[in-house]
Amino acid sequence: TMATTTQTDSKAVEIVAHRGESADAPENTMAAFKLAWSRKVEAIELDVHLSRDGVLVVSHDGDTKRTTGVAKEIKESAWSDLKGLDAGRWKNPKFAGEPLPTLDEALATIPDGARCFIEVKTGPEAVPALVEAVRRSGKKPAQTAVISFHADTVAEAKKRLPELKAYYLASFKRDPKTNVVSPTVDELISKAKELNADGLDLDFKGPIDRAFVDRVKSAGLALYVWTVDDPAIARRLIEAGVDGITTNKAEWLKGQLRRD
Ligand code: G3P
Ligand code: CA
Repeated sequence: TMATTTQTDSKAVEIVAHRGESADAPENTMAAFKLAWSRKVEAIELDVHLSRDGVLVVSHDGDTKRTTGVAKEIKESAWSDLKGLDAGRWKNPKFAGEPLPTLDEALATIPDGARCFIEVKTGPEAVPALVEAVRRSGKKPAQTAVISFHADTVAEAKKRLPELKAYYLASFKRDPKTNVVSPTVDELISKAKELNADGLDLDFKGPIDRAFVDRVKSAGLALYVWTVDDPAIARRLIEAGVDGITTNKAEWLKGQLRRD
């Protein structure tokens, strides 16, 4: 079976390929997305920024320097100045010429029954273009999940297209004096409810144990975690009951978990 299961929890966990199958192909490119789908991964994650002329461009950074060698601020650039950049060569010369994709191109690759987590790296100004891209794609809105650290972006996405899934992204910090970790699970739950989100997508380094997961689930919310490349940590989180795990090594991690 392709389902990733453990002895303690037979429910399949959704494995999400972070920036595509990004250990083996350049992150956030069509090569990384197609590799993930060819390896039968059930979901991918990608990041988007809005260009000056309103195109949603798939890139983690707001600047193209790291992945293309050419420094351009996406929000200050026209798409015509970005589309020729090479986002593959930095990873390996065999990927030379891999372009920066648009969200439209990425969405077109989603197979039936699979999902795409779209991380919106900006405020809600990107949401109308995102909703249009999802509509244009012909995919079911429920095949796309909007994720964002920007609370107002999550709320706007659910408002404009309620059939989309939306998960609020958060990480944790620990006060070095008091050792108190924030935000608390209750704060995260109220925030998600306020935004009308379907769930939370959290940094795995947070205090996520079975009690934490039970609390989130009793509130009717889904719980995803990022970014886990270590099978021992993945097993612990699956046993705690998370719905899904985002990883840079999707196929490899699934193989490790299947051995359990
Ligand atoms: O899936 C969420 C995760 O991708 C957030 O961190 O920096 O990789 O976008 P980052
Ligand atoms: Ca991301």
